[in-house]
Order: sequence, then C-alpha cells, then structure tokens
Amino acid sequence: MLGYHHKVVLVGDGAVGSSFAFSLLQTTQEIDELVIVDLKKDKATGESLDLQDITPLTSPVNIHAGDYSDATDADVVVITAGVPRKPGETRLDLVAKNTKILSTIVNPIVESGFSGIFVVSSNPVDILTTLTQQISGFPKHRVIGTGTSLDTARLDVLLSQKLNVPVNEIDALVLGEHGDTSFGAFDEATINGKPLKEATNLTVEDYDELEKAVKERGGKIIAGKGATFYGVAKYLAYIVKAIIENRNIMLPISAPLTGQYGIGNLYLGMPAIINRTGVAKVIDYDLSDAETEKLKNSAAKMKEVLDGVKI
Ligand code: 2OP
Repeated sequence: MLGYHHKVVLVGDGAVGSSFAFSLLQTTQEIDELVIVDLKKDKATGESLDLQDITPLTSPVNIHAGDYSDATDADVVVITAGVPRKPGETRLDLVAKNTKILSTIVNPIVESGFSGIFVVSSNPVDILTTLTQQISGFPKHRVIGTGTSLDTARLDVLLSQKLNVPVNEIDALVLGEHGDTSFGAFDEATINGKPLKEATNLTVEDYDELEKAVKERGGKIIAGKGATFYGVAKYLAYIVKAIIENRNIMLPISAPLTGQYGIGNLYLGMPAIINRTGVAKVIDYDLSDAETEKLKNSAAKMKEVLDGVKI
C-alpha cells in the first residue's frame, strides 16, 4: 500500500464525485492515477476527458474510466455512489436504497484484492461507513467517512458571519451523526484560541439557533439548487490528500468508536487524526456531561437504524 505510484479510485460520478475529482486534482500534486467508476460508463469516460484537460495546469495525472478491478493496486477508494436526498427527505430516508447499492460496490472491490483505505461520503454517511467496514472486514482504521466535517464547516461559517470574525479564527466542532442528532461542541469551541464562551456574549438561545441552522443548511441548499456537492467534495479531497501525503491532519470525520463514551461498533462524527494509515487516532475529546449525552443519543439513533438494516 502507498507505494510510489499513488492511485485513487472514485466510485460514483454524480455531482459529489465529479466535484471531488475536480477538487482533488487542485488539492494535491501527488496523485499519479485517478480512475472513475460509474454505472454510466459514458459519463465516466466523458468526465475523465474533461478532467484531463485541466492537467496541464495541475499535475500530470493519468485519468481514465475503469471498473472495480482497478481497485487492486489503489491507495484509496472513494465512495460517493448512492441516491441523493430530494427536497424534504432526511439522510436516514436513504438507508435502504443506499445500503443495497453499497454492498454491490464494496464486495467486488474487496475481491479485487484492494488493500488501501475506503473513504465514504454517501448518505447516511455514519451508517454507510459502519457498513463498509462490516462488509469489507477491513481493520477499522482503514475505513473513514466524511462525517461531521461538513457540519463543522457550516457551523464555523455561521459563527464567523454572526460574530463578524474571519472563519479561520473559529474552531468549533460539530459532532455525532451527520444529520439531525448532530450537536455543536460549544463548550470546547475557541475563537482566536480563546474559549468561545468567554470571548463572546452568545446565549443558550444563540447556540440552539446555530445548531438548528447547521442542521437545516443542507436542506436549504437542496431546496435552492437541487443538491449539495462542493462542500462535501472539498472535505473528501482534503481527507484523500491527508492520506496520500501522510499529513496527520485533525478533522471531525465518521470515526470508528471502540468503547469511547461507552459507544462501540459504530462510526460517528468525532475528531480524528488522518494520515497514510487511515484513521491514525480518534481524539479523546473531553466532552462535557451534556455533550456526552448528546453523543450517546446520536449513537442510539444510529444503532436503531443499523438494527433495521439488512446486508
Ligand atoms: C449535506 O449535508 C446532503 O449530506 C449532504 O450537504
């Protein structure tokens, strides 16, 4: 794994997949081969040609359409395939359809001899990441989901707009489910290195409103433009860069919980270190009691959904 030739296989050339590919080529210079797999072979071929056209301005990547057997010597397989949310749907409404699609992808990839890292963004992402690990039988650190990386970005943007400070000065994580039971970890949040709760006069009502706005933001984007893709695609590219370049970045992702906070056998949005080994470490985040309860509530919801899933 992770030899000289760095290869990424993208499964699912929808709006998220194509935006990810476009972003990846501009985010790292260290990819040698990018393979695009989609049931619509013509779409994958067209996409490859279109992306080849940016390589004179990026780096000389071999981009082509392919199939699951291409995963055999890949470093990373990115799964964005699945049915996206329609206006009014929750991510959990997608579980039955997307689980079925997932097993048709993960099984042949494992059969190809793939020994790299799965990165999943299809929804409901915490469930599908957990299932990717279960179906593949891979060690847990070799399966990652985009988790609450996007929700965290959304909270940081909203806080920056509310407080009128640059977004890069804000460090406030959203944890738990990438979905309706997520929560803002305001007790640990900082602004310019100072605790948010000391540096601002935000009230409990403000925190509730911010959390609500984060949860509603995906739906708002879908209502406006039909789909959300740039946000999650950028975080996918950032995760893949961290793996390929062995960056040791810290990001809230769908991380494997193995007993932390009394939660096990589940991927859930928690901060983790990502490098060439995959999830190098899940951060032992010192959550307050109230936040721990919220995390447990998210976990209980995910377990309930998982119990109803057949693979
Ligand atoms: C998002 O939150 C739909 O999960 C996707 O943008």
